[in-house]
Amino acid sequence: MTRLDESARALLEANTQTAELDGKRFRFTVPSVRAYPFQWFWDSCFHAIVWSRFDAERAADELRGLFANQEPDGLIPHVVFWKGDLVSRLQWHHLESRTTGRIPFYRRPHTTAQMQPPVIAQAVERVVDAGAAGFLEDALPYLERYYRYLAAFRDPDGDGLISIVSQFESGLDFSPVYDASIGFRRARPAALLARTRLPQLRNKLANYDVDTIFRRFRHHQEDMLVNAVYGQGLRALARLATQAERDAVARWASRTADDVTAALLERAWDERSKLFVNLAGPDERRAAVKTIHGLIPLVLPDLPPEIVDRVASHLDDPQTFGAPYPVPSVALDEPTFVRDHRLNGFRFIWRGPLSMNTNWLLVHGLRGHGHDEAADRIAARSREVVERGGLNEFYDPLDGRPVGAERFGWATLVADM
Ligand code: GLC
Repeated sequence: MTRLDESARALLEANTQTAELDGKRFRFTVPSVRAYPFQWFWDSCFHAIVWSRFDAERAADELRGLFANQEPDGLIPHVVFWKGDLVSRLQWHHLESRTTGRIPFYRRPHTTAQMQPPVIAQAVERVVDAGAAGFLEDALPYLERYYRYLAAFRDPDGDGLISIVSQFESGLDFSPVYDASIGFRRARPAALLARTRLPQLRNKLANYDVDTIFRRFRHHQEDMLVNAVYGQGLRALARLATQAERDAVARWASRTADDVTAALLERAWDERSKLFVNLAGPDERRAAVKTIHGLIPLVLPDLPPEIVDRVASHLDDPQTFGAPYPVPSVALDEPTFVRDHRLNGFRFIWRGPLSMNTNWLLVHGLRGHGHDEAADRIAARSREVVERGGLNEFYDPLDGRPVGAERFGWATLVADM
C-alpha cells in the first residue's frame, strides 16, 4: 500500500459509524465527523470506491446501508440520518424530507426525499470487481429499480435527460450555475439563502411528489453533472447486468445510456463556450455561467473526439479552468468566482474551490479519451494539495490551500487517480 492509500484507509476507518435498522446492523463512513455526521448518498458511493481498494466486504457494506433505505418507487435518498436521538432530530432537514404523519413538519422519516448524482452503479461495479462475494446478485435488483425510477419519474418531457427538483439534488449545492434560475443577482447572503430554500418549500408543500412538482412548478432543471453521471452509471449497470446474464436489463440500460449522450449533444452542447450547459425550467433556459458542470460529460465514453477536445481545451486555458490548482468549480473569469467560498462574510460552497470528487471524475474521464497528459496533471496537483493541506473538503484553486471541512471522506479519492 502506498502512503496515500494508508492515510485514505485510516480516514475512512476513523469516520466509520454503525447503526441498526429492522434488527440488522449497518456500517458506513460519514463525510466529516463534525460537519456532516450522517450518511450521504454520493459520498458513500465514493467511499465504497476507495474502500474497494483495501476491503471489498467493507466496501459492499457502505452501499448496503443505502439499499436498505430505498423507497418503494426506487428512489435512494440523498441523506440517511440513521439516529433518532434528540440532537440528531433537531439537525434533520425539515425541508428535504417527506412528511409521513398527518401534521405537516411533525413526523419525519429517517431520510430525505431527494436524490443525489446517480453514481451508485459505478461504485457497485468497482466493489464487484474487487471480489465482494455474492454482491452482484445482491445489488442488481436495487440498482435496476433505482435507474428505472430515474428514467420513468425524472424525465417529465421525455427527452432522455433527467431533472432535479432542487439544486441540493445536484451535489453542487450553491454553485452559481443555479443563481439565474432562482432569481439571485446581488451578492447578499441572506437573499441567496432565502432563494435557494424557496423551491424546497414548494417541494415540501407537494410532499416531494415529483409528478406534482413537475406539473405545478418551474424550478426543476436538467443538470449536466447529474446527467453525465447518470449516463455513465447506465453503462456500468449494462455491464453488470451482462455479467449476471440479465440481458433484458443490459439492453435497456445501454439503450437508455445512448439516449442520454444523444440528448446532451443535441440539446445541451454550447459551441460558443465549448461547454455543456444546464437547462432550467420547462422552457429549458440555458445557464450562462461557466462552471465545472460543463466539463463533467467527459466521463461519457461515447462523446465524439472533437467535442472532447473542445471541452478539454479549457484545462489549458488560464482564463477559465486551467487554474494553478485544477479544476476550479467555477471558471476563474466568472464574476461570481470566489477562491474560498466567501460571499460577503458568509460561506457558500461550490462557488470556486476545487474538490476531489469532481477531479476524480475528470481524471478518469480524460484517461478514457486518451487525454493522459491532462489527467496526469490534475492527479499530480491533487496529490500535492493533499500532501500539503490534508484530506479536505475543498481547496483554493489559486494557491492550493485547504478550504472547508477537514478529514473529509471523498478526498480519499486522491488515492485512486
Ligand atoms: C455538501 C455537498 C454535497 C455533499 C454533502 C456531504 O452538501 O454539496 O455534495 O454530498 O455536503 O458531504
